[in-house]
Amino acid sequence: MKKISIKGTGSYVPKRVVPNSYFEKIMDTTDKWIISRTGIESRRMIEPGQALTDLATPASERALEMAGLSPKKLDIIIVGTSSADMLSPSAACILQHRLGAKNAVAFDVNAACPGFIYGLAVAQKFMQDGSYHHALVVGGEVISNRIDFKDRSTCVLFGDGAGAIVLEHSNGNRDGEILAIQLNSDGDLWNLLHVPGGGSRNPPSYQMLDAGLHYVKMRGNEVFKYAIRTMVDAARNVMKSKRITIKDIDWLIPHQANMRIMEEVANRLEIPMDKVIVTAHKYGNTSAASIPTALDEAVRSGKIQRGDLVLANSFGAGFTWAAALFRY
Ligand code: UT7
Repeated sequence: MKKISIKGTGSYVPKRVVPNSYFEKIMDTTDKWIISRTGIESRRMIEPGQALTDLATPASERALEMAGLSPKKLDIIIVGTSSADMLSPSAACILQHRLGAKNAVAFDVNAACPGFIYGLAVAQKFMQDGSYHHALVVGGEVISNRIDFKDRSTCVLFGDGAGAIVLEHSNGNRDGEILAIQLNSDGDLWNLLHVPGGGSRNPPSYQMLDAGLHYVKMRGNEVFKYAIRTMVDAARNVMKSKRITIKDIDWLIPHQANMRIMEEVANRLEIPMDKVIVTAHKYGNTSAASIPTALDEAVRSGKIQRGDLVLANSFGAGFTWAAALFRY
């Protein structure tokens, strides 16, 4: 089977910074509460009229530029998202059009926050047998227009963004390698975190909007507990599959949901926080975008270097959870 390596990374977040003080003005909350319960200080949100591919396109262009690859060379584009520009077609097809990636097959993967790792797994399968040579995998989300700005337990958490990677077949020692990926789902837990409206069960209507069914509904406390347990399990399983121990890991990139979740995951895995990549304080929870955005920032700042062993893990609505192990 062919080895697959990451040739380029890119990310893009909207320009509009929304600090905690914004929420202090519109609801009963405080900067102190938000920071102490989540670690989030600010997040980025789109301007009205913007949509997911307005973020995914510049993120992808940056990844392609780093990889030195023309979009026409892409064989496959996968976007992990639950907030495509429209219900149909996929964000991946719109991204393909915007990039001019004429020769790619393009589709979305909806696995909520682990959508990027799910997309990576699909790309890996398509590339391993050698039939596809170049892949673009994006994790992106626009959640700011699906949160209820009257619900203080959800609206302070989320932000918008997109991250992308370009994958190629590895052709040398200096290339990294995707080593292992673990995907998991438990549909019995679907109602802990969901957006009930806008699909075929509660189709768009004035009644649906009046009832606020288009907003994120979350049982935060329960999600919190499952998040820690599942992220730790996924990380342990993916390491075990390659007989790698936590001491070998150079960097952990956890889903950037909440600082307390990340700290507890690091604590249980026994990895020090100075090996954990954190962006939640400035971007909040950007769902499927959180891992590729954090990866790109860590690569561009020089934290993550060629050859480093990286463990990424995530959880989200579904319930879905996943982990990826790769040498950058
Ligand atoms: O990508 C997956 C997405 N989901 C997550 O990662 C979320 C996981 N869950 C969490 O991060 C946490 O459960 C939250 C941050 C959502 C909530 O934190 P918590 O420490 O679990 O708070 P809680 O839900 O137990 O609520 C404690 C109190 C409640 O007040 P009472 O009932 O004790 O009077 C809430 O109403 O905190 C209140 N509260 C707030 N107070 C001020 C909830 N949100 C806020 C707020 N400001 N923004």
